[in-house]
Amino acid sequence: MQPVNIGIIGCGNISDTYFNGAKGSDLVRVKACADLRTEAAQAKALQHGVCAMSVQALLDDPDIEIVVNLTVPQAHAPVSEQILAAGKHVYLEKPLASDFGAAQRLLAHAATRGLRVGCAPDTFLGAGHQACRAAIDAGRIGRPIGGSVAMLSRGMESWHPNPEFFFKPGGGPMHDVGVYYVTQLVNLLGPVARVSGCASVGLPQRTVGSEPLRGQVIDVEVPTTVNGVLEFVNGANVAMSVSWDVWAHQRAPIEIYGTEGSLLGVDPNWFGGTPRLSERGGPWQPMDISAHPFGVENYTPNAGARVANYRGVGLTEMVLAMHRGRPHRACGALALHVLEVLDAFGRSSGNGRHLGIECKIDRPEPVPIGADENVFL
Ligand SMILES: NC(=O)c1ccc[n+]([C@@H]2O[C@H](COP(=O)([O-])OP(=O)(O)OC[C@H]3O[C@@H](n4cnc5c(N)ncnc54)[C@H](O)[C@@H]3O)[C@@H](O)[C@H]2O)c1
Repeated sequence: MQPVNIGIIGCGNISDTYFNGAKGSDLVRVKACADLRTEAAQAKALQHGVCAMSVQALLDDPDIEIVVNLTVPQAHAPVSEQILAAGKHVYLEKPLASDFGAAQRLLAHAATRGLRVGCAPDTFLGAGHQACRAAIDAGRIGRPIGGSVAMLSRGMESWHPNPEFFFKPGGGPMHDVGVYYVTQLVNLLGPVARVSGCASVGLPQRTVGSEPLRGQVIDVEVPTTVNGVLEFVNGANVAMSVSWDVWAHQRAPIEIYGTEGSLLGVDPNWFGGTPRLSERGGPWQPMDISAHPFGVENYTPNAGARVANYRGVGLTEMVLAMHRGRPHRACGALALHVLEVLDAFGRSSGNGRHLGIECKIDRPEPVPIGADENVFL
């Protein structure tokens, strides 16, 4: 298979992960990058040995088949629309859009043109999460009945170089990080049927603590503490708490409770980790994830221990799916379902009712183990 030429639009904080990830894959080759900030595109082009172009020149380049959109959430839909209008497939960072209607129009546009939309998060393809999926599918905890999810921290303004977008529509702890958890819950339990939520703004303003914008004040426009319940089509219901107003806590990221046991999942922000299982009240047993791909620790984040970080595997899996003529896993329909769920917490809080989820999807196929599908080459 010849590598597919890709272009990257958005040369900010996350872009190195995609440039580096592409270097490790035989399926893709980054030809060019672009950014509203010309100097950002030039710096990444120099660093990674690709061409810096204007956004329009990149879209006009006939060699480029797929464009990766790594802009801020508020630009996800408009930039992705431009990519589709240029006749190219798009893979973009989460969330699919800052506005649900725009996300629906984007997928409709792609369908009329026969183009693919792939969307992060792809962490659910990781070994820790796939091991949990395999345990549930094998009946190790019996029929899932309930669960608990917690993503609680102080937020992003202390470390990100330009953190304003986190506190504007499309940002906030639910859309920015809760998206990983909801996607993983759908991978484990299937689609969501309805949602109820309670959402509030903990602090009306945030002060940037990182360079180069230290001291700048951001007006918060999205809820920063959200609690709610997801009811799944399979009948399970899961309590979910996300917040950027919390200094410390002692809650696990994901727990699923079934008729025969309990599963302690791993952080959906990364690909690996060691899930644990307790069968019929027995002791917690660590699960061996080594048979599953994308679990070996390969990255040290700014804060903390080494983790498995294979962000971008959703893109390479999409390329393989295109070659084989089958659907891809981190797909637009999954991202749209998840976006509807994320939005529903805030809307439910506003109108005081459970909200049914209209977008129907199937669970993504599990990631094969062994050499099947050459585990995405
Ligand atoms: N930073 C992370 O650790 C991280 C991790 C996972 C996912 N993400 C996601 O990746 C996306 C980008 O995050 P980031 O941290 O890299 O943000 P960033 O602000 O560092 O970079 C975004 C870049 O997009 C450019 N841009 C914005 N609008 C544009 C437009 N219309 N056309 C061309 N370029 C445009 C900006 O100039 C900027 O260089 C977000 O959706 C975020 O949620 C970020």
